[in-house]
Amino acid sequence: MVSGLLLTGAVLAPAGATAAPETFWPLYQNPYVPVQLRVHDLMSRMSLDDKIGQMVQAERQAVTPQQAADLRLGSILSGGGSVPTPNTPAAWADMYDAYQKAAVSTPLGIPTLYGVDAVHGHNNVYGATIFPHNVGLGAAHDPKLVEKIGKVTASEVRSTGPTWDFAPCLCVSRDDRWGRAYESFGETPQDAIDNATIINGLQGRSLKAKGSVLATAKHYVGDGGTTGGDDQGNTEISEAELRKIHLPPFQEAIKRGAGSVMISFSSWNGKKAHGHRYLITDVLKKELRFSGLVVSDWNGVHQLNGNNDDLTADEVRESVNAGIDLFMEPYDAPKFISLLRAEVDAGRVSQARLDDANRRILTKKFESGLFEKPYADRSLQKDFGGAEHRAVAREAVRKSQVLLKNEGALPLKKGSKVFVAGKNADDIGNQSGGWTITWQGSSGPITTGTTILQGIQQVGGPRTKVTYDREGDGVDGSYDVAVAVVGETPYAEGEGDRPNGLKLDAEDLSTIAKLKATGVPVVVVTVSGRPLDITSELGGWNALLAAWLPGTEGAGVADVLFGDHRPSGKLTFSWAESFDQLPINVGDGKKALFPYGYGLTYPKT
Ligand code: BGC
Ligand code: BGC
Repeated sequence: MVSGLLLTGAVLAPAGATAAPETFWPLYQNPYVPVQLRVHDLMSRMSLDDKIGQMVQAERQAVTPQQAADLRLGSILSGGGSVPTPNTPAAWADMYDAYQKAAVSTPLGIPTLYGVDAVHGHNNVYGATIFPHNVGLGAAHDPKLVEKIGKVTASEVRSTGPTWDFAPCLCVSRDDRWGRAYESFGETPQDAIDNATIINGLQGRSLKAKGSVLATAKHYVGDGGTTGGDDQGNTEISEAELRKIHLPPFQEAIKRGAGSVMISFSSWNGKKAHGHRYLITDVLKKELRFSGLVVSDWNGVHQLNGNNDDLTADEVRESVNAGIDLFMEPYDAPKFISLLRAEVDAGRVSQARLDDANRRILTKKFESGLFEKPYADRSLQKDFGGAEHRAVAREAVRKSQVLLKNEGALPLKKGSKVFVAGKNADDIGNQSGGWTITWQGSSGPITTGTTILQGIQQVGGPRTKVTYDREGDGVDGSYDVAVAVVGETPYAEGEGDRPNGLKLDAEDLSTIAKLKATGVPVVVVTVSGRPLDITSELGGWNALLAAWLPGTEGAGVADVLFGDHRPSGKLTFSWAESFDQLPINVGDGKKALFPYGYGLTYPKT
């Protein structure tokens, strides 16, 4: 067994190793020793407080690097929109390095694991390449491309420091009313399974390879199945149904080696996932043999007693004993630590449970190469938001467009006279959606990129005469075609729930009406995180293209509008005929306006 081995760092340093043998002491600092032994050696040197600290994650705004080190915190996160000033890759790397420097200066020198939500590119950082949200990637049906997106995202993340990404969301969204529907690849488990390739892209050949980050399959389990599409709500289905619809993407993620799993805020038949020992320990860890680390969601354990207020000892005990390893406690890390310490001292949480958690967390730290290379890999910054990365995003945009109706108005002709209107035509914030620069996202020129209007101008080229007015004013019968880019404005979890309807707003309807009044053919492009309720308008439109939330590369939409790329996307969500039909999912016998799998193209020329 491990403890019987007489290994020393010096003995195991192979010939040609550059560092002096002394630097490989103690054993766990020796990169040539197998990870399991390093973990074992390190844990044998850790105090109870070291182990408890290792299990806790705080928000960067709540703790300075020194405070994090003093608390022996295992992890730090930047929540949505939690960024340094200025919000540049260099400032991120400085910030990250400061936490890392403090962590490696503690007596045991355990590096920190820094996590971010890079859910469609490294979306918190100004100037990052922003990819389509998962709803669009699902429609593209190109798992290899999604893997490439993971690779690009990981490289941009790692260039700024963090080595952990809270992505992908493998949620199977069963109800369009849910504000996180766009984080889902589709309404069937197969959509998430197919695109779990993003995990391989994020994690690379190995976690310690250049430009790799630890991926997170989230949110375990049943987040997309809540009644009414209520965010953080209750998933009221049988175990057979849970296993059939919501579990398979996690099995796939484990097969692909996903290093972490995040627990869902939601409940399963009235019991919160964050306290669900059966789901976390029995199913995830034992039955599915998940060997990575389980992380809680933002203050998730605070909800266990039925309210979201103060953290209590019962909540700490219940969630630790349920099997969560690392606790996202943005603002309450010190309190979590003292409550957990008291529970351990009272014998209500076992040493074995703490050891299981520490083993899982430390294993990922060693595998990520953090002990050898704790600091940001700034050499990757030269590609950050660069042309090569943006080309991958544009390809994804192109392939994610779904053509739903076309009476010949598309493709647009280069050299024609095109009028463009609509609140989402020239707005990088709107086309990027939530989780962009800020948590909920926002309208306006929030980051760099190409708007859909700019894309139309570029792809149309100098021969095409493009006129733009947001409200559609100034349009007349002299145009060959009018394009209205309409739909949703940014939102994320909670704020995006739509229990009352999914219709176009008054501004969109009035813009479209002005275009229609001229008698020229009207093309509608919807920018949205989900199917909208458009049945009553559709008859008056000559073409309809679903652009989803394309991100910063709006030229990809124009590539399809002009036919440089023939539309190839297919729906991974049943497009409801009416709002009262929700939830609607393939196989449920309801008749959709556009069924799952639908998508037109242009005739070959
Ligand atoms: C979300 C997670 C996210 C976390 C950290 C939570 O509110 O549900 O998906 O990873 O915040 O930002
Ligand atoms: C943070 C998000 C987090 C959310 C949870 C926000 O303030 O920025 O990252 O998911 O709070 O409520």
